[in-house]
Amino acid sequence: MAGDKQTQLVPIGKVGEIAEGAMKLVNILGHSIILARVGDRYYAVANNCTHRGGNLSQGTLQGTVVTCPWHHSQFDVRDGRVIRWLNGGLSAAIVGLFKPKQALKKYPVNVDGDRIMVEVKSESKQ
Ligand code: FES
Repeated sequence: MAGDKQTQLVPIGKVGEIAEGAMKLVNILGHSIILARVGDRYYAVANNCTHRGGNLSQGTLQGTVVTCPWHHSQFDVRDGRVIRWLNGGLSAAIVGLFKPKQALKKYPVNVDGDRIMVEVKSESKQ
């Protein structure tokens, strides 16, 4: 039925092609996703910051925390939760009244052999 969402496992990379502590931007089925490698684990979250859409793939990754290059909000790539909203402090509290902090969308990751797969929902064509 038109408009139905189907979950698909989609290959988005190969084990070893991303350096430890690095991120890769992947655009797939209408989703803009960053794939991050932390140690030997891979995590996938939405690329666009929930504050004003900053491109997180151009931010920095330290441990499991990605920092937005625009206003420095921080998110945990393991689950997308907000670690810090904006720079923190009073200005973040004031902006937070108008734009409450919001977690990043998380995408489940599966590693199958050397293929890294991510679960995404796509519109059904039927
Ligand atoms: S757009 Fe990311 S913190 Fe503002």
